[in-house]
This record gives sequence, structure tokens and C-alpha cells, in this order.
Amino acid sequence: MEAERGLVRKRNANTHPKRCVRPAQQVSERIGYMYQVKAKVLSNEKLSEAHYRIKLEASQIAKAARAGQFVHIRCGPGYDPLLRRPFSIHKSRQGRIDVLYQVVGKGTGLLSQKRRGDQLDSLGPLGKGFEIEPAFKKIFIVGGGIGVAPLYMVAQEITRMGQGQDVTVLLGAKNKELILGKDEFERLGLEVTIATEDGSTGYRGLVSNLFQELILSQTSLSVAVYSCGPVSMLRKIAELSRHRGFFCQVSLEQKMGCGLGACLGCVIRGRSGYLRVCKEGPVFDAKEILWDDLGL
Ligand SMILES: Cc1cc2nc3c(=O)[nH]c(=O)nc-3n(C[C@H](O)[C@H](O)[C@H](O)COP(=O)(O)OP(=O)(O)OC[C@H]3O[C@@H](n4cnc5c(N)ncnc54)[C@H](O)[C@@H]3O)c2cc1C
Ligand code: FES
Repeated sequence: MEAERGLVRKRNANTHPKRCVRPAQQVSERIGYMYQVKAKVLSNEKLSEAHYRIKLEASQIAKAARAGQFVHIRCGPGYDPLLRRPFSIHKSRQGRIDVLYQVVGKGTGLLSQKRRGDQLDSLGPLGKGFEIEPAFKKIFIVGGGIGVAPLYMVAQEITRMGQGQDVTVLLGAKNKELILGKDEFERLGLEVTIATEDGSTGYRGLVSNLFQELILSQTSLSVAVYSCGPVSMLRKIAELSRHRGFFCQVSLEQKMGCGLGACLGCVIRGRSGYLRVCKEGPVFDAKEILWDDLGL
């Protein structure tokens, strides 16, 4: 069993006074919980050259997690790397969470060496997740590369609502070996369209270009878009959505320190002021983001 080391009760970030950009219909406020646990590794499976899926026993985090929230994991045993690393909660069920991750450096390299039975100091669930609205008739879920990680729980929540919405899942990657999570969305009964940059399967080109083509024939005004991936992709999805008047939420990545809103290490400038990605985000209304500020 995981050892619960601390429990902090906090107000949901939706209540932050600066967060004034909201969809027309706001979901009701909830009181969130954050836990620090020694999460036991149940498995750590290699999915492709650089991608892994780690399953962790973390019952309190699993129970409290919402789509788009993240866990902050201490990847190594010592002080190198000093800081925890943030990862989206890919799945939460029956006392465990799954994290999909890509090895890009020291922290993720150490994570890839974890074996069944190891323990990981984990904080979560953190941040503000997606606001899933039952009111929209058409929903696009758009993931690029490892950006698919937080989107499975979005799809799960939408299908659980059972409002009969028309859901289109678009997944993009460089090539077919790097497509992640297709089967999982299909098991929810959703149709998935793939885009690969090299054309090895599905649409040839960027997933944002596929999105652009698909929305040409979209006549409904009641459209929501939930997206995660590289910033350049998110910017394009956000701009296309704004032109068409779609409600669009994006999950951003930023290097993080505390992950708790205290150090200001993850701050970006938004239209309504400075925003901490770990606290007011990582999911934002796309209209709130000043994309030029993100170095694009
Ligand atoms: C809210 C949030 C959720 C996230 N969810 C996930 C997730 O579900 N799965 C996942 O794999 N990653 C996710 N990330 C990114 C992940 O946190 C970083 O990849 C990780 O911190 C890198 O740590 P590292 O020590 O391995 O690399 P570092 O040593 O910190 O960096 C090594 C090199 O990789 C570069 N780098 C760092 N991050 C990335 C990146 N995301 N993509 C490409 N290059 C990068 C650095 O600039 C540097 O050059 C998320 C980030 C945030 C903020
Ligand atoms: S990482 Fe410390 S405020 Fe966001």
C-alpha cells in the first residue's frame, strides 16, 4: 500500500480571481485534494523507441484526478535532478494511475529504469484540468505526439456523460510507430483519425492541417476542441478555433519548479495577467494565451 505522507486541502484553481476567461456554461466548483505519496511501480512498459507507460499504485491521487491534471514525480533517488518532473495523468482507475512519457533527458531517463516494486515520491493531482461541457454537440480531441497523454481522460469523461455528442479524435505523430493511444480511444467506441508527417499511415502531414481540413465541412456552431501537443500545433489549433468561434482548451507544458503555485517558475503572460501554468493551468482557454510570448 502506498504511504500517504501529507494531505493538503485547497480551493480549486477555477476560483482564482485572475481566471476570468470561462466558457458560457461553467461546471460547478469543486474542492480539490492533493496528496504526496510513495507510489509503487506496478509496471513500466516500453511502447516505442522513446515512449513508456508507467503504472503506479496511488489510490488517493487516482480517486481525486480529473482530466488534464498532472502528477509531480521525483524521478531520482538523490538531488540530481533536484526538481520533480511533471507528467499528465493519462488514466486513473481502481487505485492506480498511468503515465505516458517520452524520454528526453535525465529525469525521464531515470524514470525509464524503474522496475515493478520501486517507489516514486509523487505529488498530485495538481493543476486545473479540462472543463468538459455536456452542452457542445460536436467535439474534437486533437493530440500531437506525447500530447495524447491527458486526452484519454477527456474522451472517457465525454463518453461517460453519454450525451450522444459527435466526437472526433485526431492523433498526430512523425510516423506510424510513434502513434500512441489509438486503441484506447477506439475501445471507448470513438473513431480515431491519424496524421503522420511522413505519411506512413493515415493523413500525410501535420495533425493541425488535418484539423483545418475537417472543420471546413463543420456547420455546427456548438463545437468544443480539447488539445495537447507541441506549442506550434496548439497555436494553430487555437487560431483556427477562434476564427470559427469554437470553444477551445489547450494543455500547455512549461518547465516547472514547485508545481504548487509558489515559486513562479512556470509563469506565462496571459490576456488577463500573469498565469502560473501549474496552478491556473496547465489547461487554459486558448483565447487566454499570448502565443507570441511563448516564443513562436
Ligand atoms: C503539465 C505538464 C504535463 C506534462 N505531461 C507529460 C507527459 O504526460 N508525458 C511526457 O513525456 N512529458 C510530459 N511533460 C513534459 C515533461 O515534464 C518533461 O519532458 C520532463 O520534465 C523532462 O525532464 P527530463 O529531466 O527528462 O529532461 P530535462 O533534462 O529537463 O531536459 C532535457 C532536454 O529535453 C528538453 N525537453 C524538456 N521537456 C521536453 C519536452 N516536453 N519535449 C521535448 N523536449 C523537452 C529540454 O529542453 C532539454 O533540452 C509535461 C510537462 C508539463 C508541464
Ligand atoms: S512551478 Fe512553481 S509556481 Fe508553477
